[in-house]
Amino acid sequence: MNRREEILAKIESISPLPVSTMRLIELGLNPETRSDDICRCMKDELFVDELLRFVNSPYFQKGTFFSSLHEMEKELGNKRLRELAIVAAVKPIVQIPINEYDISTAEMIRHCLAVAIGAEELAKALQLETPDFLFLAGFLHDIGKIMLDQYELTDAKEILKEAFTSQISVVAAEKKLHGIDHGEVGAILLRKWKMPADVIQSTRWHHHPIACRDDVLMLDLINVSDSFVLMIGIGVGSEGLYYPVYNEIEERLLLTTKIVERVISQIQIGLEQLEPFFNAESTG
Ligand SMILES: [Fe+2]
Repeated sequence: MNRREEILAKIESISPLPVSTMRLIELGLNPETRSDDICRCMKDELFVDELLRFVNSPYFQKGTFFSSLHEMEKELGNKRLRELAIVAAVKPIVQIPINEYDISTAEMIRHCLAVAIGAEELAKALQLETPDFLFLAGFLHDIGKIMLDQYELTDAKEILKEAFTSQISVVAAEKKLHGIDHGEVGAILLRKWKMPADVIQSTRWHHHPIACRDDVLMLDLINVSDSFVLMIGIGVGSEGLYYPVYNEIEERLLLTTKIVERVISQIQIGLEQLEPFFNAESTG
């Protein structure tokens, strides 16, 4: 078995998410789902409290305090409620302690949140219609990295050495040494978790969007947001600052310096508003 096959076999054997998490993903993706369905599904009141605490962060509530999911649904819309229910459900997986990759757990969460915020702010700044589940896609884009680390399937030092010696990106070094990179690993997992196709594509190609054959706006937004977030030093870790921004994408999105500056500043503001709601349980 070569390294790629070993990793694929391990990923295949990873137990599926808890039944309640899978059920919430299914509910969250179903446009028929209402706040009552989520409350009914989550008999665990702690989850509803946690979700409410999270949506009451200034980033989401924009000045309105929500005392129930129903109120939140009325104010922010059903789609947002369903998306944030999934984010809250998968949050414990993103918060798994990180050992490799030279990055703390807290910094990894900061990075995932910042990419999610940046992608949304970029869509707004470009006056584009925000793709469904964009925040979720940003939040999960590095899930492959988190899982490779969790199951000790990678050796960051070895990858870094290869990247340095061969003068290639860390992602290219992953691919060279393991035959697979964390984008592909993430996409395999998200497919198992029955996530939407655009979320899977965005994770798969977030470091190399021009290799994606489909035209996926979500992917462009995640890639650019990820590059901004690394540019301002959030979650750099072993991935380093080697992160090419593709001219094709810049041109496709009509990026200007003013937009770049605006989005970067919004990422910093959004992160300040949202991070405290994620940090309480992180250990790194
Ligand atoms: Fe990544």
